[in-house]
Parts: sequence; structure tokens; C-alpha cells
Amino acid sequence: MSGEAEEPDLGPTRHRVFFALWPDVATRSAISRATRDAVQASGGRPIAKDRLHLTVAFLGELTAAGLDLARKVPPIAVGGFELTLDALGIWPESKILWLAPQAPPDALGELEANLWDALAERGFRSEERTYRPHVTLARRARPVDAGVAPVRWVVQDLALVESFPDGRNVHYEVLERWPL
Ligand code: 2AM
Repeated sequence: MSGEAEEPDLGPTRHRVFFALWPDVATRSAISRATRDAVQASGGRPIAKDRLHLTVAFLGELTAAGLDLARKVPPIAVGGFELTLDALGIWPESKILWLAPQAPPDALGELEANLWDALAERGFRSEERTYRPHVTLARRARPVDAGVAPVRWVVQDLALVESFPDGRNVHYEVLERWPL
């Protein structure tokens, strides 16, 4: 008997990844400032300023090979565009407080559609649910009766982001960025 503990079989490492619009520092601050009161009024658990983002395509848990494949999908050249985040709301089912564009620009719809077309060619499958572009501001939130001063966001690139568990939170790491 060797007395050595056997390594537990944890299976292949999985990477929880998604494509997102990742705001620059000034836009993060603007989102945070514009929504501070609403977040507080909602009583929810706020998303830290440095984690704010808008998901374009959620890929889920990928193997290392899947992640390599996903990295090869961009660029998706729809051109840079401007987003106006001017709607604030809550989804009662998920209790998510969000900030969103009331009228998403066509370029965002094009980006999402073209990205999923390119992903589908490589075997990735999207969820059935309708794409509702939003920036999550807080979780476990209560409905709030608050407006928001519109935040202008100049979007110039697409990011591939990995999510890591971090205690009760998650930590995000931008793996790569591509100009639009
Ligand atoms: P959410 O903030 O509204 O939960 C990382 O989890 C990012 O991917 C979040 O912005 C999350 O949106 C989004 N996302 C989209 N679909 C998801 C899913 N099925 N499971 C988890 N996160 C998802």
C-alpha cells in the first residue's frame, strides 16, 4: 500500500463563457451613477461596478476545445454603434433589476444574429428564449418605481468573457476582444 490519497476524478475542466459588450471605465461609472438610487431602493444585491456588462451570446460550460473553437468565431464586423441605456426595470421571475436600451439599435440585433449564425456553423446552439439585451444591476431585487437618466454608450468591440465562482459572487475575466 502506498498510503497516497488517490486524485479525485473531477472530469474535464469546464469554462463558463459568454460574448458580451464590456463597458469602458467612464461608461461603467455613468451606469453606476445613474442607477445607484434605484439599486438601493430595490433592496437587491448589487452587481459591482467592474462587473457590469451586456451579454450578447451566452455559451454555457465549455471544454477547453469548445473554448478554443469559440475564440475563432469573431470578428463580427457590424461596425461600432451607439447604445442609449434609458429603460430600467425588473423581471419578477428572476428578480433581476436591469438597465436596457428602450430602442436597441439595429446594429446590436445584427451583431447578435450574425454571431449566432457563425456560432451555429461551428455547432454551438443558442437557447430558445428571446434575446433581451440588458445590463444586470442587482439580483434578488424588489420592484422599484424609478426612472433613469439615459446613459450613452459608444460600443466599439466585442469581448469573450469567462466567469469564475468567487465566494458568493462571480469574477469575470475578459479573455479576448475584437473590434466591431
Ligand atoms: P444575467 O445577468 O441576466 O443573469 C454571465 O452569466 C452572463 O450571461 C450574465 O450577463 C447572464 O445574464 C448571461 N446569461 C444569459 N443566459 C444565461 C444563462 N442561461 N445562464 C446564466 N447566465 C446567462
